[in-house]
Amino acid sequence: MTSNQTRTAIVTGASKGIGAAIARRLARDGVAVIVNYARGRAEAEALVRTIEADGGKAIAVQADIADPAGMALLFEVGEKTFGGIDILVNNAGIMKLSPLAQTDDASFHTQIAINLGGVFRGMREGARRLRDGGHIINFSSSVVGLYQPGYGVYAATKAGVEAMTHILAKELGARRITVNAVAPGPIETALFTDGKSEAQIEAIGKMIPLGRLGQPDDIAGVVSFLAGPDSGWVNGQIIRANGGVV
Ligand SMILES: NC(=O)c1ccc[n+]([C@@H]2O[C@H](COP(=O)([O-])OP(=O)(O)OC[C@H]3O[C@@H](n4cnc5c(N)ncnc54)[C@H](OP(=O)(O)O)[C@@H]3O)[C@@H](O)[C@H]2O)c1
Repeated sequence: MTSNQTRTAIVTGASKGIGAAIARRLARDGVAVIVNYARGRAEAEALVRTIEADGGKAIAVQADIADPAGMALLFEVGEKTFGGIDILVNNAGIMKLSPLAQTDDASFHTQIAINLGGVFRGMREGARRLRDGGHIINFSSSVVGLYQPGYGVYAATKAGVEAMTHILAKELGARRITVNAVAPGPIETALFTDGKSEAQIEAIGKMIPLGRLGQPDDIAGVVSFLAGPDSGWVNGQIIRANGGVV
């Protein structure tokens, strides 16, 4: 990449929640963004219009990251539209909670396919196709260190993401590509609030040392740092952005 080239990013799962906040933030940082979505076409297209209205560049691309062809498609469209990819944010993920004794194979396979398989294929594609000097930012979760009942499979997928993050950082260092992960605490999105009562949500917010739940923009700021010029010496790290909860 030459110094006057626009930097470009793929953000998986950017139709809502944390991914949408990351797409908005990177676009504000001057990055052209591929806004990936699975089912939320209307939301992804609305987000692209908002980014464009603010003077940024973005396109919405449908791809299921559990499908082996999905990640390759995102790179193909990104390369054709913007000339190359510099930043890959492996944000898309799902969470299905149940005690291990009650977890069926379908729940296990879906979480593995999206949370671990999608990130694996993203890292593999990124390792092959990111421009030198680029950044891969994966998504773990602070629940990895909490060992709470009900989180067995979800936490296991995120522990796998953390392991691969450390290893790929060592494999790509020679090309000046950094590989890090963000491990958020409770962030007020559908993934966190679905299935919880108002009282439960409030109680969790009060348990956090900073006294509130996280918001998507709290995490977008961390991603902006990891994708930007000030994080040049940060590599192979898991950033636990969680208000001090663990
Ligand atoms: N919220 C939290 O408290 C929290 C805490 C720790 C870690 N995290 C992690 O942060 C990431 C984002 O979570 P969130 O809270 O923003 O979740 P969210 O609001 O539920 O959004 C999830 C996003 O992922 C996309 N997605 C799901 N399955 C996909 C697939 N197969 N292919 C492509 N995209 C897919 C969804 O797209 P469509 O809607 O278009 O289907 C949506 O845009 C996840 O990896 C999650 O595990 C979240």
